[in-house]
Parts: sequence; C-alpha cells; structure tokens
Amino acid sequence: MNNPVTGFSKLSKEEKINWIAKEYFSTPSEAIILLKNYWNSDEKIQKLHDEFIENTITNFYIPLGVAPNFLINGKYSTIPMAIEESSVVAAASKSSKFWSTRGGFKATVLNTEKIGQVHFIFKGDISKLELFFVQTKAKFFAETESITKNMQKRGGGIIDIVLKDKTNLLPNYFQLHATFETKDSMGANFINSCLEQFAKTLKEEALAYDLFSETEKNIQVIMSILSNYVPNCIVRAEVSCPIEELAEKHIENPQDFAERFVQAVQIAEVEPFRAVTHNKGIMNGVDAVVLATGNDFRAVEAGIHAYAAKSGQYSSLSHAKIENGIFTFWLEIPLALGTVGGLTSLHPLVKLSLEMLENPSAKELMQVVAVAGLAQNFAALRSLTTTGIQDGHMKMHLNNILNQFDASDDERILIRKHFKHNAVSHSAVVEMIGNLRK
Ligand code: MEV
Repeated sequence: MNNPVTGFSKLSKEEKINWIAKEYFSTPSEAIILLKNYWNSDEKIQKLHDEFIENTITNFYIPLGVAPNFLINGKYSTIPMAIEESSVVAAASKSSKFWSTRGGFKATVLNTEKIGQVHFIFKGDISKLELFFVQTKAKFFAETESITKNMQKRGGGIIDIVLKDKTNLLPNYFQLHATFETKDSMGANFINSCLEQFAKTLKEEALAYDLFSETEKNIQVIMSILSNYVPNCIVRAEVSCPIEELAEKHIENPQDFAERFVQAVQIAEVEPFRAVTHNKGIMNGVDAVVLATGNDFRAVEAGIHAYAAKSGQYSSLSHAKIENGIFTFWLEIPLALGTVGGLTSLHPLVKLSLEMLENPSAKELMQVVAVAGLAQNFAALRSLTTTGIQDGHMKMHLNNILNQFDASDDERILIRKHFKHNAVSHSAVVEMIGNLRK
C-alpha cells in the first residue's frame, strides 16, 4: 500500500521517477535505470514527447512497421503501421501482395460530414423555442465567423445547425445539432470552439428574447462537444476478381474457398460474438495506420463500433458476395481523420509516416486506412477458412517466446528448424529450450 502524494505534477521528471521507484519497486535503482533506458538520447525529441502529456516519466515503445506493395486505385503505396501484435504487418503484406496481381484495392470516400452538439435544457413552450431558433440561426453563423474564417478559406466550415427536440428521451432536453466540413483536419478543436460559441450565443440571445418568459429565458447548457459518431463520413474499400483467379497456395479449389469465405462473412453479419472478433481483425489494420499517422484511435474505435451496431444489433463491418462468377469483398467504415493539425506536424515519426504516404489529404488517408482494414480482414478470413489461424500466428509468436527465454543464436536455429515442420505451442517451445539447455 503506497502513500498518497500531493503536488505530483509540480515535481520535476527526475523527482517523479524517484518517488515512483521508491514507492513501488523492491529495487528502485533497477526501475530508474529501466525508465531512463527508454529516454531518447536526443534531448529535443525527448522534450517533445515529455510535453505531449502530463507526468511523462519515459517513452513506451511499440514497433512501427511497413506493409509495401499496396495497389490502391491504381497507385502503389507503402503503408506505415504502429502495432505490437506479431502477425498483423505480415498479414497486411500478404494481402497486399495477393491483391496487387488481382486488380488491387479500390477505395472511395462517400462523404465527409462531421457532427457536434450543444446539449441543453429548456423549460417552456416548444413552439416558442422553435421560433426563437429560426430567428436566431443566422447569429450562430455570424458569431463564429472569427473561428470559421480560415476553415472557410480551405473550403470547410459549418454546414448546418438544426434544433432537435429530444424531450421524448429526457424531460426538457434539446440539442443544437451542427454539421461541419473540416477538410484535411480532423477538426475536433475547430468543432468544439464553434460549439462553445453556439452555446454562448444561445444563452445570451435567449436572455434577450422578448417572447420568452423568465423561466424560458434561462436556458441551461449542459455541454458542448463534437460527436465521434460520424455516420456521414464514410469510406468504402473493395477488392474483386473472377473466382478462378483466387487460386493460390492453400486455395486449390477457388470456388470452394470463395463460398466458405462468403459464409464466414455472413456468420459475422448475423452473429455478434463472431462479429466482434471479425471487426477486431479489421481494427488491427485500421488502428495501426491511424496510430502511425498521429490520429485519434480511440475516436476511430468508438465511432466504428457504433456504426457496426447501427441496425440495433452489432454486426460485421465487411461484406462479401459471389455474383456472375465474380468474388467481391468490401467494407464501409466511418473515419474522421486529419492530415494537418494535432500531432501531424509535431511527432517526428508521424511526419515521416505521412511523408511515406506522400502527404495524403484526409480523404486519401481515409482510403488507405480502410484498405488496411480490409486487407487485414481478408488475411484473417483466408487463414481461418483454410489453414486455421494458429499456424501463421504461432510461427510469428515463436520469436516472442525465443526472446522471452533469451535464446542464443544456436538455439534459435535449431528451434526454428524443428518448428518448420511441427506445430508451435508455448509449452512445446519451452520444452525444447529446456531439453537443449540440459
Ligand atoms: C486477431 O488479432 C484477429 C483475428 O481474431 C480476426 C478474426 O478472427 O477475424 C484473427
């Protein structure tokens, strides 16, 4: 049981580390060495990372990998992926190679609308509130002009604001529901600044509105915040080819493969337990690119899973069909991404990832991310419906087990040779290491 600490955020980094080491570790000196080993030797880079968040004590590494040869809309890309799961980049690369000789990936952005809401309580005559809103609407636009000016120059801004009556859900609950176009920025700061100004205008104008009674004038704004649910900010990614072209190693009978594949997708469409894992496989690809490009993966996760449940039942994000001998596999996902603002110009590896993608627009990045998700889903379903997932997974995981046991080079060679022809399991590898070390 440790002692509570006061004023922790005011301590220097050194002092924070010392306190943690003393408080939680049996050998504080070892904890301090480990934490400091992960500091960047370039002080400027370290300072940058220290200042991303509060109370930074060190950096937490995850690998940045790349999946090359992604043919997207006729153009090759190398996709950066930040992820710790051993098989993900390998699976993406396998899919990119497979589809590069079968027409590649097609991706289209269907729309790019973002949403924000001012949630408020109004007690009184709803028809008066509706009239007030119609008469005040222009003011919401006028009073946010200083915020929207630059965005308008880039072709974005506020698309519309509507008053929503939500009193059937909660007594006296209303919203200003606003839609935005934020071009190449994710737009969170822009949207939230507009919303907070809407809230201010709403309260001030209500107070001065002659038709309102004293109670009606007193609008209570509960909160103003963007929504991470963006069902009108959708990107579609697709692959298709004649069934016979699916033939490859482990796909000796392409017709049978295509049918099993479509059935696997249909199962995820109707069965939530499977849908969650199926979509998790998609998110392996989506999150890795979102993270590498400095975007908010929690926002993306929340929005995509809400979209997967939009029918009232959680379901597959991807779909597949066979029509006239053509196999088609596609997904549609909501993605609010930015390629300017936020971390994009701050984090050196984010800048590098974006440059690797040839500095895409937000729409182009949406396409890349959706393709990474579809590629990952294809690789998973391909394994699941043919060899099973463990074969590939455990071969990749073998390395992690060898590292865990600090295997020597000689041990690695012998063990890899053995498991080329034998099923990898944690216990089998541990047993072999034990035998070799006897
Ligand atoms: C593992 O990270 C992802 C899979 O479980 C996805 C799936 O089952 O489709 C392999």
